[in-house]
Amino acid sequence: MTSRRTFLKSSAATALLSLTSFPAKPQEKQRTYSLVAREAAHAFDGATKSDLWLYNSRCPGPTISAKQGDTLTINFKNYLKEPTTIHWHGIRNLNSMDGVPDLTQPPIEPGESFVYQFPLRDAGTFWYHAHNKAWEQVARGLYGPLIVQPSIPAPMNRDIAIVADDWLLREDLQIHENTLGNLHDWSHAGRLGNSLTINGRFLPKIKIPHSGPTRLRVINAANARPFVFKIKGDTEIKIIAVDGSPCSHFVPEKITVGPGQRVDLFTEDCSKLEELQEVSTGQAYVAANFIRGPANADNRKWSQSETPYYSFPNIKDAKLISIRMQGGAMGNLGSAEFAGQIIPLRELAMKESKLWAFNGKIGGYTLNLAEVSVGDTVKLDVWNDSAWPHAMHLHGHHFWVDSKEFGLTARQMLRDTYLMQPGERATLVFIADNPGQWLFHCHMLEHHAAGMGGVISVRI
Ligand code: C2O
Ligand code: CU
Repeated sequence: MTSRRTFLKSSAATALLSLTSFPAKPQEKQRTYSLVAREAAHAFDGATKSDLWLYNSRCPGPTISAKQGDTLTINFKNYLKEPTTIHWHGIRNLNSMDGVPDLTQPPIEPGESFVYQFPLRDAGTFWYHAHNKAWEQVARGLYGPLIVQPSIPAPMNRDIAIVADDWLLREDLQIHENTLGNLHDWSHAGRLGNSLTINGRFLPKIKIPHSGPTRLRVINAANARPFVFKIKGDTEIKIIAVDGSPCSHFVPEKITVGPGQRVDLFTEDCSKLEELQEVSTGQAYVAANFIRGPANADNRKWSQSETPYYSFPNIKDAKLISIRMQGGAMGNLGSAEFAGQIIPLRELAMKESKLWAFNGKIGGYTLNLAEVSVGDTVKLDVWNDSAWPHAMHLHGHHFWVDSKEFGLTARQMLRDTYLMQPGERATLVFIADNPGQWLFHCHMLEHHAAGMGGVISVRI
């Protein structure tokens, strides 16, 4: 207990120090929210109560919205029966506020509180989610959207969050609990569900304006399922931002959103939007219907940035980190290092539920992938030498990657999560400008729990 209190004090002190070192702008504001995590009932169909674990009893959790440059304060209390933490996915955060249990903070015990406080350096679409036993806590509903507006935001009714999730439910719409922690899921594609929700509902009606420009912020909160969305309606849909960061606007061949990823869509005229469809199975499944509000004269256009958080850096002196991802079913990993010993994968699976490795080592918060210094440019060469796709997420930074999610031609994009196909090799380039211990892991949450993760340290 003593050590936890001391830790809390020292991390608050560090946070303050780093906050004061951010240049204060006159318009800088404090935004304060309260979040509680607790068991709560929610009706996906508007009638049948499902027992979930939620933030503020809402599914998804409340939308946290703020402006770029604000300092966000979240007073959090854990009413769950087990420890938890909150990670602010995509925020180039202070390390002490990153919410990784046993790496950046002690887990928040049942009944305990924690204050998250950090500056919002970037505008964009982010989300927050539990990071302790995330494979279970996120599956039960612990996540919500975090929207950071640029200095001139779009009118509120033209800026719409679309949080997609893939739940594994029983006939009676309760969480399928018997399959939580199922080793078959952990060694294959992760926990795939049977029920698609948009903003916590089956087949909801999404309110859009009568006509004119509209922005849709799509967030994939599923444990493991990559979604492919299609918008029915005779209008041009452009991608204007991915994983928060603006990009040059383009019309995609397909809209793939892997677990953890975000895609911001834009149309000049929403009057033609009909349906949001999910087409990853090859068949169109209607996920939501768009309904228009009354005619409204406010059809003014507003500008959307096309400038990423930072441009592709010079890689001449980049530090190279090579990662070979191995393991899982139908893979080539016979044995791996775990707790200092080489152990056959079969035995690791049965005894430790460990199935995935980086460079022959089962990952975890103690697996150090590399140490670099603040200001270094880093080239992360990643090879998916496994039979499964993986959504690779880096904490605390965005990286440049030749992104293949949106069509046959790769596009150089700034992302925080990259969906890699089996056998794919990718180079993730980033400037390590944020000191601390940062996780690099698969956002198929079962894969992460089963060993697909490690730490990159950025030293001052
Ligand atoms: Cu959204 Cu470590 O994850
Ligand atoms: Cu994975």
